[in-house]
Amino acid sequence: MKKRIAVLPGDGIGPEIVAGAMKILQTIETLYRHQFEITYADIGGCATDKTGTPLPNETITICKNSDAILLGAVGGPKWDSLPVEKRPEQGLLKIRKELNLFANIRPTTCYESLAASSPLKEDIIAGVDLIVVRELTGGIYFGKPSERRLIDGKPGAVDTLQYENEEIERVVEKAFEIAKTRSKKVTSVDKANVLETSRVWREIASQVAEKYPDVILEHMLVDNAAMQLVRNPKQFDVIVTENMFGDILSDEASVLTGSLGMLASSSLSAGGPYLYEPIHGSAPDIAGENIANPLATILSVSMMLRLSFQMENEATIIEEAVNNVLNKGFRTRDILAPNCTIVSTTEMVEEVEKEIRQLVKVA
Ligand code: NAD
Ligand code: IPM
Ligand code: MN
Repeated sequence: MKKRIAVLPGDGIGPEIVAGAMKILQTIETLYRHQFEITYADIGGCATDKTGTPLPNETITICKNSDAILLGAVGGPKWDSLPVEKRPEQGLLKIRKELNLFANIRPTTCYESLAASSPLKEDIIAGVDLIVVRELTGGIYFGKPSERRLIDGKPGAVDTLQYENEEIERVVEKAFEIAKTRSKKVTSVDKANVLETSRVWREIASQVAEKYPDVILEHMLVDNAAMQLVRNPKQFDVIVTENMFGDILSDEASVLTGSLGMLASSSLSAGGPYLYEPIHGSAPDIAGENIANPLATILSVSMMLRLSFQMENEATIIEEAVNNVLNKGFRTRDILAPNCTIVSTTEMVEEVEKEIRQLVKVA
């Protein structure tokens, strides 16, 4: 059956990495005789330039009518001083909200061949396999008011950190469901020594844990969690946390894999469609140079095949191909290692494609 995929390349390196990931998707389509119906749509700064808004209604409709969505990245200095509603990031926040994508799954695995590319010691990161489950549609990102105003008569600004209990419960449940299939440990990260939302978060996490007697729940303060992630990351299995803490901790966790350019993600709702995107941004500093690492986006496609289309074989083949290409020493600049072969974005995609063809032939 035809699978409808909305593709939103966005800004900066977005179009480059998405073009690469689409080549891989087409390779899978041909080799496995699938039918993917692709519809491209605008989001972010490029959408603001064309239509005056970072998330045109047409894009929302295309996403809602699709079976899955692939997104590149949004943002860049060109749009940084626009009024808030025209900023590229607002497009991303709005599509997450429109599609109710409350759980953002950000896995971090350490590829053996990349252990030397991380600034961390090899024995600390070898064997790391953790998942950050980030709440994605609530918290300080969405609380109102969010504005500049007088505070005690003096100029200032306010943002609002708020959570409904249900918003906490559903994402914590998602984390437990994932942990059940893995090492059966959930670390709920909060700032309960200071924030009321965190104290409620902690209570709800403990209540949810009662439904999962096989899974261990541990609570950890976010400052300690940030430290533990680089000191002893192997202690973690599934980390569940609120929106902003999850944003920060997952960028930190990416260093365990060697580079931000390696981390894929899926954003899940109750009934779909799900959205897949690399966790990194539009990397304006390297945009247009054909040097960005496309692997996070390629691995996001693999997540899409597995989670939205139940194409387990196809997803695994992509992951194996990525692993093999890294083992053979092909590297974009963000994951350089001694004696490696430096490749461009497009060359890396070609290597992964070749490897997929080889793996399918052998199978
Ligand atoms: P960034 O993630 O874009 O870049 C951080 C650093 O990592 C840069 O040095 C960049 O070159 C490097 N990097 C990122 N992805 C890479 C890749 N695939 N290959 C090689 N190197 C890579 O974060 P930033 O610089 O803080 O933000 C730039 C813009 O991106 C901002 O406008 C920000 O709002 C936006 N942003 C968007 C998303 C998203 O669309 N999901 C995520 C984060 C930031
Ligand atoms: C991410 C990004 C976004 C976020 C920004 C661009 C709104 O950093 O996807 O991690 O903070 O969620
Ligand atoms: Mn981020």
